[in-house]
Amino acid sequence: MKIAVFASGRGSNLQALIDASASGYISTKIDLVISDNKDAQALKRAESARIDNIFVDPKEFKTHREYEEKLIEILKKYKIDLIALAGFMRILSASFIKEYRNKIINIHPSLLPAFKGLNAQLQALESGVKYSGCTVHFVDEGVDSGPIIEQAVVRVKDNDTVADLSQRILKEEHKTFPEVIKNIVEGKVIIRGRKVIWN
Ligand code: GRF
Repeated sequence: MKIAVFASGRGSNLQALIDASASGYISTKIDLVISDNKDAQALKRAESARIDNIFVDPKEFKTHREYEEKLIEILKKYKIDLIALAGFMRILSASFIKEYRNKIINIHPSLLPAFKGLNAQLQALESGVKYSGCTVHFVDEGVDSGPIIEQAVVRVKDNDTVADLSQRILKEEHKTFPEVIKNIVEGKVIIRGRKVIWN
């Protein structure tokens, strides 16, 4: 199975995947990293791990469609089977998702379906929930709305700042994302409509 990671920023989740692959926990390597941000630390992490990494500049394309066509061209060239979105700050269109139906997964810093979209940790704090966490899900046409593969729960503490909660959730993200990818690679994750079953 050939894996691409899309990342726009820091890339700590990418790093967790790189480490999980280096240690043999995930039995395949990450083949490609794509970013829409030339300064993304994720690109540097990929470079250090000797993973092909490509900055595709959205500004070079007249339309979002053309931008995505370029992404698809690259993905086809690399024969990518699984796309992991790890802090990729762009919404993928319905036609892109159709091309890679059930082959795109995303990690989100809340217990979906609560707190979709941006600033999920802030949303959790403002809502007063006692538990939040992270979710790995298949990507469908909605925002953070696809079938849920796995979640991890984190306690929200009384005096948590956004940074505190984000940090505690991130620690879980770094375990959950590799775990999901390991199981997808091993063919143990089966999607049945809205439900994802672990074999
Ligand atoms: C993570 O919190 C992830 O859940 C969200 O974006 C953040 C990316 O962090 N989608 P990093 O770039 O992996 O460090």
